[in-house]
Amino acid sequence: MLSFTTNSPAETHALAKKIGAALRPGTCVAFFGGLGAGKTTFTRGLAEGLGLPDLVSSPTFALVNEYHAPGCVSVYHFDMYRVTSPEALETTGFWDYPLEDSVFVIEWAENIEDDLPEPLVKITITGSGDQPRQIILEGDELLDRSGS
Ligand SMILES: Nc1ncnc2c1ncn2[C@@H]1O[C@H](COP(=O)(O)OP(=O)(O)O)[C@@H](O)[C@H]1O
Ligand SMILES: [Mg+2]
Repeated sequence: MLSFTTNSPAETHALAKKIGAALRPGTCVAFFGGLGAGKTTFTRGLAEGLGLPDLVSSPTFALVNEYHAPGCVSVYHFDMYRVTSPEALETTGFWDYPLEDSVFVIEWAENIEDDLPEPLVKITITGSGDQPRQIILEGDELLDRSGS
């Protein structure tokens, strides 16, 4: 487990970029933390660290946003805000997305906690508004530290 404090969105982005650069293909990243915690801010940094263009928007009105770029691992960014049962999850087609060669990023992981794919990196963000954020990362042994 790793613990961080960030004092601004820019600090959260910079931290996330480092973690994104260390993510291995096939990893699921699951965010816990309420509205405005910084999940989407963190996801933008992750995508940048993976080499994807900084295009990540909040997928609340689509269940998933996909990011692909030549030579980069694809990112599937899910928002589970409205998905509150295993049956609802099944209906979304979630299980048809290919995790093997991609990275999943899941906002509102609380809502599908028993169905989160593995290997799993859990990121819990606490704090809101202009407060500093406490960021707890579980599953750090899954990160590739060779580049840092
Ligand atoms: N340390 C911080 N880290 C991340 N976001 C922060 C921080 N401090 C303030 N913020 C603000 O909190 C909001 C986080 O929004 P967002 O990333 O969309 O959250 P979520 O996806 O969890 O709802 C942004 O308006 C951002 O500017
Ligand atoms: Mg969000």
